[in-house]
Amino acid sequence: MDGNGRWATDRGFPRIAGHQAGSESLRRVVRAAPDFGVSTLTAYAFSCDNWKRPAEEVDAIMALLAWYLADEIPRLLADRVRLSVIGRRDRLPESLVAIIDEAEAATSACDKLHLRLAIDYSGRESILTATGLCAGRDVTTERFEQMLAATNRGGSQPVDLLIRTGGEQRLSDFLLWECAYAELVFTRRMWPEFGGQDLAKAIAAFRRRERRFGDVPAALASRLPTYSRERWLH
Ligand code: IPE
Ligand code: MG
Repeated sequence: MDGNGRWATDRGFPRIAGHQAGSESLRRVVRAAPDFGVSTLTAYAFSCDNWKRPAEEVDAIMALLAWYLADEIPRLLADRVRLSVIGRRDRLPESLVAIIDEAEAATSACDKLHLRLAIDYSGRESILTATGLCAGRDVTTERFEQMLAATNRGGSQPVDLLIRTGGEQRLSDFLLWECAYAELVFTRRMWPEFGGQDLAKAIAAFRRRERRFGDVPAALASRLPTYSRERWLH
């Protein structure tokens, strides 16, 4: 969810107004997502590196997140959205942790969409934590992913589509393991302006991609000639 600050600055508003508009954007996207067949949506709200920002902005984001969650519980229940929060909790304000616990407990049986909010989240840190939990045993992919799921609470399923708004083309420490074969869509749209139509466009682009996971195109597999060095390189 990138571009809140620039969206606000461009309009002469304080950056926090951009974060507030961004929370409304998230509400719209959560509403629209199930119509496109999305079953899990992870939104990157605050990274471990975002603590570097000025204290006023960090405090305002923490307050906004608590308000958003408190406001949202009835709507999440009505729309059958299960909420999980991934990331560290030990540095969050107690009042925010309390509302996270409440929202997670209240929505735990909801089954239409799984909304995961990443707050104080770092992909590298979650990999390190999961690796630590594997300590003393062989680190197989399966065991590592179980530990990653435990670390994230909200699971460790592979990401199919990653959408980054705000014009930057980087991962910024988001779900690094889970994005191994994610399709990436970058848009210049600032997050407060991102809506259902943008989601539709990104999903249409995703559907046009051929996902091969390291394999060759399915249509080619049966027609590949036997490799012959002489024939192809001379
Ligand atoms: C994304 O918007 C929200 C957070 C990282 C909290 P930004 O705050 O990064 O907005 P820009 O990139 O400065 O426009
Ligand atoms: Mg940014």
